[in-house]
Amino acid sequence: MSDRWYKKAVVYCLDIDTFADSNGDGVGDIRGLIGRLDYLARLGVTCLWLNPIHPSPDRDDGYDVSDFYNVDPRFGTLGDFAELLHQAGNLGIKVIIDLVVNHTSDKHPWFQSARSSPDSPYRNWYVWSETEPDDRRQGMVFPGEQRETWTYDRTAKAWFYHRFYKFQPDLNIKNPEVRAEIKKICAFWLQLGVSGFRMDAVPFIIEETEPGNPNSPKDMEFLSDLRQFVQWRKGDAVLLAEANVEPDQLVEFFGDGGGANGRIHMLFDFMLNARLMLALARADPEPVIEALRETPALPDGGQWATFLRNHDEVDLSRLTADQRADVFAKFGPEPEMQLYGRGIRRRLASMLGNDRRWLELAYSLQFSLRGTPVLRYGEEIGMGDDLALEGRDSIRTPMQWSALPNAGFTTGDPVRPVIADGDFGYEKVNVTLQRHDPGSLLSWFERMIRTLREAPEIGAGACTHVDVPAPEGVLVHRADDVTGTMLFLHNLCTKDAVVDLSSVYAEAEFPNDMLADREYPDLGKFAEVPVAGHGYRWIRLRRRP
Ligand code: NOJ
Repeated sequence: MSDRWYKKAVVYCLDIDTFADSNGDGVGDIRGLIGRLDYLARLGVTCLWLNPIHPSPDRDDGYDVSDFYNVDPRFGTLGDFAELLHQAGNLGIKVIIDLVVNHTSDKHPWFQSARSSPDSPYRNWYVWSETEPDDRRQGMVFPGEQRETWTYDRTAKAWFYHRFYKFQPDLNIKNPEVRAEIKKICAFWLQLGVSGFRMDAVPFIIEETEPGNPNSPKDMEFLSDLRQFVQWRKGDAVLLAEANVEPDQLVEFFGDGGGANGRIHMLFDFMLNARLMLALARADPEPVIEALRETPALPDGGQWATFLRNHDEVDLSRLTADQRADVFAKFGPEPEMQLYGRGIRRRLASMLGNDRRWLELAYSLQFSLRGTPVLRYGEEIGMGDDLALEGRDSIRTPMQWSALPNAGFTTGDPVRPVIADGDFGYEKVNVTLQRHDPGSLLSWFERMIRTLREAPEIGAGACTHVDVPAPEGVLVHRADDVTGTMLFLHNLCTKDAVVDLSSVYAEAEFPNDMLADREYPDLGKFAEVPVAGHGYRWIRLRRRP
């Protein structure tokens, strides 16, 4: 699995502090995670993406790093981390970590030094302005929680720039020393054995911020440079970037336009994410068809990473106002379910009313579309959210392992409350219950991911809409690669449908359902192919030797 392994990966995202606690202090830790690797292997996960693991004051769930060269002592030691990499490797699981280098915590010694004196060797590692910048109240990422992007620091006697919260001062990417340090951080973790990085906030990392200029220039070349560096240090390491930008700006994150993938390997497909949510809300495949049609072609080697839920809010900012209103109405009608005016802070299972058929449909769709699927911990058992928690914490509750106290997550006082009541309470939704039940959502995920393994064209091949006269609500798409062809039917409506697929019959060599929501009659000559309400079918058309 080393040749472009990321195209065939199943990525599982987790936060160590809410996953599994091995020592009863209430905080998840590395040893706890090591103890659950067999669970992840059985699920079919091939790559872990760990949310920030570094020491941090933890005011933004670890995205405020105070030491890039260590692990948070609450999680364990570097020794434990090396052991994690070893044990995961034994099970064929790679590990990538969050690389959060747009900013540091304001408690980071670099910033403490930088603010202390204009003569500090670290002064120029951050972005300062002697006077109040005109764009001080522009460009906020967390409206409502953030009031400005430039804050006056009385110790420094200057304004510092922070794209995110004010306790996250931006590093100055114009400074060659900062660039060198970022490489050193990458080198350190690659040397320990990670397989790459989920790069946080990439469009902001490359911003060469100028006070008063809300559209400061961006240095894309930094990404080429970093990619080259990373690749020389570890040939098969990947960069998976968060770059939630306008569609026409996406391609340059992959490469310089010369047709080569010389920058980021994988980008999260935010556009598809929002359109999937819209398609589910409207029971209409059109937004997904549009996404397939409009997404720019990627240079060879470039890959999308798909997701339905990540660790943040569902970001609907790239939808039109009408589209967004439809998604809000269906999935987040109450103000307490919404965030930053653009998103929803609920888990998928609660948005879909804990409807098992709908959930399967949604995840079947995500995993069968182009790109590498990313799954957030707990989604595989249908965990819910706790809206009593602030902001994005609503979906960051401890993993529900069993019906033991505190969901088997800890024997101590959990870092965040476990979900105890209602339909999503841990006594009803937990791993132990589901692993013994072949009909559970967890068992379904295991089956679905196994099927994905049998169909490499899904992740690596070309994914296109199949334009057949499909009934309302039904999406037909296909995946083609040198390995063969898969055909997919997804019925986004609750009404049963029959699709005429005779136009693709000629291509069918050994047609059969590889995965479906139920047993369907023989496919015959594809003239009348049924798919139940909220049903799906993964049909193998061809298999190349
Ligand atoms: C994006 C991350 O996904 C989010 O959780 C974090 O708050 C910001 N970047 C700041 O690092």
